[in-house]
This record gives sequence, structure tokens and C-alpha cells, in this order.
Amino acid sequence: MPFHSQIPQPPALPFIGNVTYLDRELPIQGFALLAQQYGEIYLLDILGRKVIVLNTQELANEVSNDAKFRKGVIGSLDEVRYISGDGLFTAREDEPNWAIAHRLLMPAFNTMAVRDMMEDMRDICSQLLLKWERFGPDHVIDPSDDLTRVALDTIALCSMSYRLNSFYTENQPPFAASMTEFLRECYIRSTRPSLVQALMTGTNAKWESDAKFMTDVATRILNERKEKPIEKKDLLNTMLYSKDPKTGQGLSDDTIVKNLLTFLIAGHETSSGLMSFMTYYLIKNPEIMRKLQNEIDEVLGGQPVQYQDLSKMPYLTAVIRETLRLSPTAPMRMVQPLEDTYLANGKYFVKAGASLLVNTWVYHKDPKIWGEDAQEFHPERMLNGKFEALPPQAWQPFGFGIRGCIGRPFAWQEVSLVMASIVQKFDLSFVDPTYNLELKQALTVKPKDLFIRATPRNQAPHFHPTASILKQVPQSSATVSKHARAGALRPMYIFYGSNTGTSEAFAQRIANDAPSYGFAPELGSLDSATGHIPTDGPTFICTASYEGQPADNATRFIDWISNLQSSELRGVHYAVFGCGNSDWTQTYQRIPTLIDETLEQRGGVPLIPRGAGDSSQSDFFDVFDQFTNDLWTTLTKVYSTVQSESQTPAFKVEINSGTDRPTALRQSDAALGRVIENRILTAPGYPVKRHLEFELPKGSTYRAGDYLAILPQNPPRNVRRVLAHFGLSSEHTVTISSVSPTFLPVDRPVSLAEILSGYVELSQPATTHDLRTLIDATTNDAVRADLNELKISYQDLVLSRRISVLDLLEKHPHEIQLDLATYLRMLPPMRIRQYSISSSPLWNAEHATLTVSVLEEESLSEGKIFLGVASNYLSELVPEDRVQMSVRASAAAFKLPEDPEIPLIAYCAGSGLAPLRGFIQERALQKISGRKVGKVLLFFGCRDPEGDYLYSTDDLAEWSKLGVVEVRPAFSSFPERSKGCKHIQDRLWADKEDVVDAFNNKAHSFICGSNQIAKAVRKQSVEILRVFRPDLDQTQAAKELESVLKGRFATDVFD
Ligand SMILES: Cc1cc2nc3c(=O)[nH]c(=O)nc-3n(C[C@H](O)[C@H](O)[C@H](O)COP(=O)(O)OP(=O)(O)OC[C@H]3O[C@@H](n4cnc5c(N)ncnc54)[C@H](O)[C@@H]3O)c2cc1C
Ligand code: HEM
Ligand SMILES: Cc1cc2nc3c(=O)[nH]c(=O)nc-3n(C[C@H](O)[C@H](O)[C@H](O)COP(=O)(O)O)c2cc1C
Repeated sequence: MPFHSQIPQPPALPFIGNVTYLDRELPIQGFALLAQQYGEIYLLDILGRKVIVLNTQELANEVSNDAKFRKGVIGSLDEVRYISGDGLFTAREDEPNWAIAHRLLMPAFNTMAVRDMMEDMRDICSQLLLKWERFGPDHVIDPSDDLTRVALDTIALCSMSYRLNSFYTENQPPFAASMTEFLRECYIRSTRPSLVQALMTGTNAKWESDAKFMTDVATRILNERKEKPIEKKDLLNTMLYSKDPKTGQGLSDDTIVKNLLTFLIAGHETSSGLMSFMTYYLIKNPEIMRKLQNEIDEVLGGQPVQYQDLSKMPYLTAVIRETLRLSPTAPMRMVQPLEDTYLANGKYFVKAGASLLVNTWVYHKDPKIWGEDAQEFHPERMLNGKFEALPPQAWQPFGFGIRGCIGRPFAWQEVSLVMASIVQKFDLSFVDPTYNLELKQALTVKPKDLFIRATPRNQAPHFHPTASILKQVPQSSATVSKHARAGALRPMYIFYGSNTGTSEAFAQRIANDAPSYGFAPELGSLDSATGHIPTDGPTFICTASYEGQPADNATRFIDWISNLQSSELRGVHYAVFGCGNSDWTQTYQRIPTLIDETLEQRGGVPLIPRGAGDSSQSDFFDVFDQFTNDLWTTLTKVYSTVQSESQTPAFKVEINSGTDRPTALRQSDAALGRVIENRILTAPGYPVKRHLEFELPKGSTYRAGDYLAILPQNPPRNVRRVLAHFGLSSEHTVTISSVSPTFLPVDRPVSLAEILSGYVELSQPATTHDLRTLIDATTNDAVRADLNELKISYQDLVLSRRISVLDLLEKHPHEIQLDLATYLRMLPPMRIRQYSISSSPLWNAEHATLTVSVLEEESLSEGKIFLGVASNYLSELVPEDRVQMSVRASAAAFKLPEDPEIPLIAYCAGSGLAPLRGFIQERALQKISGRKVGKVLLFFGCRDPEGDYLYSTDDLAEWSKLGVVEVRPAFSSFPERSKGCKHIQDRLWADKEDVVDAFNNKAHSFICGSNQIAKAVRKQSVEILRVFRPDLDQTQAAKELESVLKGRFATDVFD
């Protein structure tokens, strides 16, 4: 077959080839990005060694053929041979010891033999359960760490009757630590030139000493057994005393040690990684967790897991299979063709002995097999005959054929036992409810920085302070409970479901006020109330909805209440306030409504009707204020409480003299990104737009279209305004103490400037509650009258002009005597702001760019310039600045289709271009790498081709030339330069034939930017549809459009 295609290869450098493309920390990440860029197959030159990487089921299936291909012990596996030599895992196939050990040990690992290991497995499993139970629900658990202990001790006990007692060490067990280090170094060694390797004496010495430590452990186990033989028929005895039925040969001591090490290596990282991933996926998907819990409860009936139970839990099997599909812990394997051969029906030629890397991690997500949702966790796809009907080798986490995993039944039994026991016994939750999977890799892969809590099931909940403004804001709920219980206050439970902090701020406000109405508040996320809502006091719930779904820290709670069956919530007295946005017409207030209705249906008693704040309306805060008035009136009546007459003020701020700077707050390396570049994109005189490039916090990963959540600082000008009003300097420190839970740092001196910069919003409009406080703080009749006037015409005079408390204090600097403590208490916590990432990880997986509109306009209240907090904070950054940030996944629909050939139609204006730029960049890189990509038809609105036509002279020009994008601009100030079109909806109308063509070619559509634009594009699309379907009226056409666009249309709205 002479006309084969060239296998694509990234550009290579002399001598080192493509080494720079390898990701040392996380190899699979680099490989996966290359697969996204190059497609089914690509070639890498690693220091002269050529490796061909296979990324589809079709290719993996083709090389899963023992007659034509054999296992390749090359690269990092070759390095592992340093300790395991011709042991089973690392042996070359022609090495006689492999065949002998294989024949001897296969029977020892069959299902029957493994069944006999059940009691030993249970012994170790119970150590884990005991530990989690003993530490209690507040303890932060590193599941990877504990599950590694389980896996390591289990393999040691079952195969060698040896107790490693890993649960008796506080730190990582020394054997596991040495192994992790050793295996990571094995990978890196395989990517280093030998000369460099030879010079790295320190690293080499460490690698050798890890190897020696592990070999010594295995040798000691062997020697102890020889000295003190036991009767048990374990693997060690099999290796010591059995003879190969074919050759009559036994195994030498050296081979036994190598195989003991093999079991310890091959048998523990893989299983523990699988259990850790499964823990992650179950917590992330509460509905799946509940289904599994139901199955386990039903089958086990409260009893410990027995061997015969394992076959009765099909859903458990499906969850394990799906975990191994999405996160195969042995992520790749090597094979070599025995002869010259062709792959993919003759498309690619490979020589005998070539190194072919089967990329299980990538091809297990092959969209051709698993569909558009291949990246998602759906155990259902493994149920009801679907697993059995899969194309050959579509699921291959245990390798293939003669060199496939010998420990598969062992691992399956162990994982089923341990995970069923954990799920039976505990409710699990993330410590950080927004946690998204991050990875770490040595030879195998595991979740990184995954921390959980385990609450024994069917017990009262515990309240964890859960900060949604990233994870660093210190909490003080301990102080709260202490004070609360000390006084004669009634307990009150306040829960929030919040992504960007509004609902949390409202909940906080209720908590602040609670003591003065006679209540001792406990504050927590809704998830912290999963399984139990207290009945010894009222419950207040404040929550948002996101595309009709709960906020990240409310998902478990919603799943729980949605699946209650009878009157489980009898005795709960509650009130709900919903934060929503009526632009989401179909799902406006969906979650608060669902909570309110479900609580009542399940026996709860509403104290007052549900409140609903609409953040698209200017009376949002006012509505909440009204609601709180009603709430306190009702609560004080129903619970007969009186205003607390505590001697200690509920909230106190002491100003300390001196200039002691506090230890830095909210500093966590994990969340600090580094500024690389900050440049302006617009011409002078135009509203400023900027392009920022960040190096992401270590370990962060993203997909095109995801967001960066930024925790900003207030503009220094506004901080100075506050300091000046209170006559304080930025050097002053304060010590805050509080009876109620607060997001502010308490009981230690902190710089006031730091609090004003980073912890509170200074420019929010004053609420009517704030106005009442200000009225109480003045004795001046004229000022009182003025403030009263504001209260009466609140909407027009305060909200629509966005007058803040600070504005009012500055207006009446002497007449209003507000102390600093009261002022700080009025301020909501600093919110994060989200920005769409405007780059693709194919460009740089560790860096991300933003495209930001800087909000600096004449203030709606006269006489000042309004500075948007985050956009101005970003605008002022310079290279090397550190910024607190985290990557947040975009809505499921707002991502590139898995198939890059699908064309796109994109609509945006201004910085709405951000995520679309990332999409186009990704396609451009794929095209440059030789893949076929569908075109992007981009409708882009701005004012002036010379003023704010973002990226038009560089990136967009280049990508247009490449044929990846066709830009259809609409210049509002120069319509004559855009086919007479002022706005993108006009341009859409003008170019409707092209849009319809693209649509007929299966294009996916994206709208991004302001809600106004989204509405205008939708409206125009309805009109276009009516051109083709004149029989439809507007309403019918809108409905029809909705149905034809289903699954092919996504909107990302910024406001
Ligand atoms: C999913 C998502 C993605 C986003 N992506 C991007 C992106 O890629 N690029 C981007 O630039 N933005 C993006 N945004 C918007 C961004 O998150 C911020 O909302 C925006 O930058 C403003 O934040 P700020 O802190 O600067 O302003 P803030 O301090 O939050 O002020 C904004 C508030 O001030 C009000 N206001 C506006 N003008 C005035 C005025 N003249 N006087 C008084 N008050 C006024 C507004 O009504 C608004 O309530 C995105 C938003 C979302 C939800
Ligand atoms: C979820 C858990 C596990 C996974 C995902 C897994 C995966 C794999 C894979 C993919 C291979 C083939 C490697 C290759 O082709 O290079 C393999 C081989 C092997 N595994 Fe496992 N494994 C697991 C658990 C275990 C356990 C518990 C043991 C031991 C008790 C074990 C022992 C081995 C051995 C000895 C080999 C080499 C077999 C040979 O080449 O003859 N594995 N495993
Ligand atoms: C991407 C996105 C989706 C949203 N979806 C809905 C929705 O389906 N229903 C609704 O009422 N509000 C919706 N909203 C509005 C938020 O619920 C509202 O802004 C709320 O105040 C946010 O509260 P939080 O800051 O506590 O997270 C959405 C907002 C965004 C940014």
C-alpha cells in the first residue's frame, strides 16, 4: 500500500525533538492536548526515540492483537525495570521468567482465589472506616492518601500476609512515598538526555535510594517468610514453593523479590486512584451517589458487605466501569508491531518494532463511541446491556490479551468492597464545594488536592463555614456558637446556595441582625444541611439558580430534598428568599421555588411567603429589605423573642494604635495566578478594553469557554475615601469581634486598608435598611428629612442612581455620626467576578487570557466617576502581580462541539468576543496541525473599525487568512463600512443566507455578551425563520426556533 498518509508531528527541535511538548508534571495532559490538536494519531520524537500515539478506539482495537503486536517495555516502563526487572509487569515477553511467573500466578489471581481474600480485604477496609468515623464529620480527609493506605496494606496482606500498618503512620506511608517519588522520576528520566541524566547526581542518588528502600522491604518480607513459614496459600507461598507445570522450574529469590515489588507497584496505585476518582465523581454527581446509596442500602440491609452481595449491585459495577472509562488510572500502554504494518485501513505505515502508545486516557473519550457527552460521567451508559454491546476494546482500562492485568479480579473485589462500605456508612462532601477535578501523575493518575468530609449517615448535620468568595476568607462561626449558646438566644439556622456571593451576603446580613432580634444564628451552605434540617429553631434559606440548576454549594441539598418520599421534614419551620434574574424566563427562581414547595410538601411549615429578588431589576436590594422586615416581625412574634440586651455589643471594631501590618490574609499559593501581560486593545478616546495574560495557579486546567473567577480589590481611590471620612490612615489596624458569624477576620489586628480593599463592597447602592441606620445616626433635622426623602423615593433617588452609603456619608460628613463598626457591618462581602477565558489550552495550557471591558464612566449619581471594582482592578495590574483566581467550568452547552468539523455561528459585541476568541484560536491551532475544521462565522459588533475592532489587525486577521473564521462586523458609528449595518442583528439580517447555509451544515450557534444582544439576535433569528416559514406568527416562530436549535445553541450572558 504505497499511498499512505504522513503521521502528523508537532514541530521538532534539533536533538531534543518534541520533548518540550511533554508535560513533566502531568504527562497525560500534554498528550490529551496534542490529541485535541492533531486528531487520531500523531508522532513525537523524544530525544531521537519516535513514539506514535494512538487516540481512537479504532486504532486501539487494531493494535490489540497478540498475533501482530507485543507489549513494549520502553520509556518509563524500562526505567521501572531498575527494581522490578523481569517481574511480571516490566518483563519483556521473551524473558523466560515472565512465562513461568505468569503460569504460576494466574491461578492465584483467579476469581475463586480472590474470593478467599475477602476477610483480609475487609480487615484493612475496616481500618479506614474506623479512622473516618473516629475523626468525625469536621475532619478534612485527603481521600487519595487514605485510599492509598487501604490499597497498599490490602495487597501486602492478601498477597504476602504482611502487615504494612499504613494506618498507624500519620504521614504518607514511607513505602508509598518512595514509590511515588521513584515512579515520577522514572517518567522524567525517560524524557532526559542520558548525558544530562548522568550529571544529575543528587537526583540519581535519591532515585537509587528510593529503589533500595523498596527492594529492602520486599527482601525483608521474603526473608521473614523463609525464616517463619506459614501454612496460608498466599501468593508468596505460591512463588516460593510451586513449580511451573510446563518447565518444572521454580522462581529464584531474586525473581520473587521483583514480583513482590511488582504487586506492590502495579497493585496499589491503580486501585487507590480508581477509588479516589470514584469518590470525586460520586460527590460531584449527587444524583448518582443517591442511586448508588439506595442500591447499597437495599442489598446490604444495614449489614456489612459480603462476597455474595457484590454481584447483586449492578449500579455499583456501572459506576466503577464509568470511573475507569473517564479516568483510567493506568492511562496508557505501549505496544510494538512484530512486522512492518499499516494502520487505519492502510492509511498509516508503521515499521516493525516501532513504539506505539495506546492512549487509553484519550481514546476512552472517543466521541465516535461515546457521543458528544463523552467527557461526562454517566454510569447509565454501562447498564442494561450497553456495556456488553460496546465496539471491541472501546473500554480497556486493564490492558489487553496475554499482557493484560493479572490483578483485575483482585482490584474489582477490593474496590467494590471498600467503596460500597464507604457509601453505606458516610455522606461525603467536598471541603471546597466548587472543587473541580485536578490531576497528578506518576506512572498512574490520581486526583490532586481533593479534600472531603465524611459524615456518618443519619446523624445531625454539622455546620462548616463555607466561604464562596474563594476559599481563603477566614470565618468565625466558632465564636458565634460560643456566644450564642452562652446567652438566652434561640437557635436560628441560616443556609445559602450561592456561586457569586449575593445570596451568601444576604444570608450574612440576616445572621448579623439575628442577635438583636433574640436569635443565635448558625450559618452554613445549603449542602451542609443535607440529610437534616434542624427543628429546634427557625430556618432561613437564601439561594440562587443557575440555568435552573442549584449553585455549586447547594447541589447535594437539592438532590436530597428532591428524593424525600414522605413527611421527613415535619417540625421544620422555614422561610425562603430567592435571588434570581427574570431574563432566565423559563427557569426564573426555579431553585428557591423548588425548595419552598418541597419543604412544605415534606411536612415543613413556611413562616412567611417566599421572597423573590430579581437582580435584573433595580429594586433587588429593596425587595430583600422588605422581606427581612416581614421575617423579623414574624419570627419575633412566633418565637416570642425580645431584642437582646447583651452588654457586649454584637459587633465591635477596636482601632489599634501603631502601624503593625498584619500577616497577609487570603494568601494561598494554590489560588494565585501571575500576570504576564496587560495591554490595551482600544484606541484613545474609546471605552477601554484590555487583553490580560495570566499564568494560572499551579495545577489549574481549563477548556476554551471556561471562566476565570477573580477575587478583586476595591479601587484605591474608594478605600481612601472611606479612610478620609473616618479620619484614619491606611496604616491603622483594627481588631474586630463579632457575636454573629462574619466574613471579616476577627479577634486579631488587621490593617483597615486591607479590609476595605479586599473584604467588602464599597459601591453597592444603599439599601432602605441602610437609610434607616443613617437616619438613626443623625440628629440634624435637615439631613433626616433629606434621608427620609431618599427612602420614600428610593427607586428613583437611590437605586437607579446607585447612591452608596459612602456617597451619603461624604455628602453629610459632620451631620451623620456613624461609627466605623456600624459602617463595616452595613457592607456586603466582596464578590468574585467571572470573566470568560479568551484563549484555548492548545495555545498554552498553563496560561489563560482575558478580554476585559473596563468600567469607568460618569457615575449615575452626579459629579463622580464610577469605577467598576474588578475591571479596574484588572486594568491596573502589571506583569508579575499576583491575583487570586480560580478556573470555573462554563455551562455545559457553552463549549466547542467534540467534532471540530462542525461549523459555528457566533454573535457578540465588545468583550463578548472573549470566549469566542478562545474557540477560534483552538480551531486555528487544529487547522495548522493538519486537522479539518469547520468555519466560524463571527458576527461582531463595535463602534469603529479603527477604534475598538478588537484583535482585528492581529489574531482575527491571521485566523481569517487561515480560513478558520469569517468576520461579519457591524460598526455602530460607521455603518457604511459594514454593509450599512449598525448592529449585529442588522448584519445577521443582511447575511441571512450565509447563516442559513451554515445552519443547514449542522452549525452550532453561540451568543455572548450583554443580555440585550442575546435578545436582539434571538428576535432577528425569529424573523429570519419567518422568511422561510411565512405561515408562522411570531410566537409560533419563536417556539419553532427553540426546537430546531435545541442542543445546537448556547448563550453566555455577562450582565
Ligand atoms: C459568565 C460571565 C462571563 C463574563 N465574561 C466577561 C468578559 O469576558 N469580559 C468582561 O469584560 N466582562 C465579563 N463579564 C462581566 C464581569 O464579570 C463584570 O460584571 C464586569 O467586569 C463589571 O464588574 P466590575 O467589578 O468592574 O463592576 P462592579 O463594581 O461590579 O459594578 C457593576 C455594577 O455597577 C453598575 N454600574 C454600571 N455603570 C455604572 C455607572 N455609570 N454608575 C453607577 N453604577 C454603574 C452596574 O449596573 C452593575 O450593577 C462576565 C460576566 C459573567 C456573568
Ligand atoms: C484498578 C486497578 C488496576 C488497573 C486499572 C490495572 C491496569 C493494568 C494495565 C493497564 C495493565 C497492562 C499494562 C501494560 O500493558 O503495559 C496491567 C498489568 C498488570 N497488572 Fe494491573 N491494574 C490494576 C490492579 C492491579 C492489581 C490489584 C494487581 C496485583 C494484585 C495488578 C497487577 C498487574 C500485573 C502483575 C500486570 C502485568 C501483567 C503481565 O504483563 O503479565 N494490577 N494492569
Ligand atoms: C450563567 C447564569 C445563569 C443563571 N440562571 C438563572 C436561572 O436559571 N434562574 C434565575 O432565576 N436566575 C438565574 N441567574 C441569575 C442568578 O441566580 C442571580 O444573579 C443571583 O443573584 C446570583 O446569586 P449568587 O451571587 O448568590 O450566586 C443566572 C445567572 C448566571 C450568571
